[in-house]
Amino acid sequence: MAGSGAGGEEGANISLARDGALGAVLGAVIGAAAGLIGVGGGEFRIPVLLHVLRLPVKLAAGANTVIGLGVVTLSLARRWGQMRWTADDLAVGGVMAVASVFGATVGARQAHRVSSPWLRRIISVYLIVVGAWMIFEALAHAETILLRPTGPTRWALAGLVGFAVAAASGALGVAGGEMRIPALMYLFGAPVKEAGTISLLASIPTVAAGAFAYRRLGHIPNRVLVLALLMGAGSLAGVLAGSALLPDVDRHAIKAILGGVLLLATAGLAVPGFLEWRKARMGRFVEVCGVDDVAEGKGLAIEVDGLGIAVFRDGGKYHALLGRCPHADAVMGRGWVDDGEAVCPIHQWRFKLSTGRCTTMPGRSLHKFRCKVVEGRVWVEV
Ligand code: FES
Repeated sequence: MAGSGAGGEEGANISLARDGALGAVLGAVIGAAAGLIGVGGGEFRIPVLLHVLRLPVKLAAGANTVIGLGVVTLSLARRWGQMRWTADDLAVGGVMAVASVFGATVGARQAHRVSSPWLRRIISVYLIVVGAWMIFEALAHAETILLRPTGPTRWALAGLVGFAVAAASGALGVAGGEMRIPALMYLFGAPVKEAGTISLLASIPTVAAGAFAYRRLGHIPNRVLVLALLMGAGSLAGVLAGSALLPDVDRHAIKAILGGVLLLATAGLAVPGFLEWRKARMGRFVEVCGVDDVAEGKGLAIEVDGLGIAVFRDGGKYHALLGRCPHADAVMGRGWVDDGEAVCPIHQWRFKLSTGRCTTMPGRSLHKFRCKVVEGRVWVEV
């Protein structure tokens, strides 16, 4: 919901004691499964953040990235010593990691251009076929390898898979590990446990970039960050338990669990909570105010789904920037416009209206949102 006035910190209605304890317990259970399989666990965490802890969609997505970063980092650290790394494993993981960064960027940019029903269908078919096949293999104790390229073809395929998985994850918000692990098993010949570990290595730069981007966008305000850290602490305990079990659990059992997770992930593509979350990630225009609500040369503080935004009017044109100043958290909507720049009301840091770039302190920019006027109303893409 959009509304005027940005009083109080976003997410201020979170009870850190109650929600933090609940989040820590549920996080531990999810973390144990994630640590065992080698995925980030986001597809199980998101329903908890949305429906149990009742975070608004954007804040749930932000909290999920912080916890996911902790989970994949600790899982990788814990599993590192359990795997006999070869130069080939490191090379495949490294190429995938680099390609994933490009793929995630393209996926996020194309999110509102890609025909998502088609992409969703393709990914659903992939997850169903692979998930069912994994369960069959686990029961039959069979192993299938479709390809095992060598040399430059192998690196090229690693780059292609890393890019495609990250682009699809970025565009639709589906988890990357669930797609990357089967690809590593069937196209590169990696055993299931090793595939999970290589996938974790490949995912870290993308997950880290996502967490920093959400923080910069203001989707992880301080109270949500504390809640994410509490749930993250539980998740990390779970990851340690799950990873410790790894050497003793039969690889066929892990494959069966992973197959089940893929089928659940397919169901997630159709569940309303996930669709809502995905839609929010893809960006949508929201009507925020009337054109006359913002005085010429001034700002207006508004809030959309718990996210603070500042709308400025400059020469009859409207611009929307993130609502909190990166210096000391002032409400930017209480500021004003001077020479094409938004000015913070507290210590007068200045930000280009056209880009959000900070001209007072380079590198401390504000995110700029797309903004349009339709029939006397101002719309902002969030
Ligand atoms: S709070 Fe904005 S410049 Fe200090």
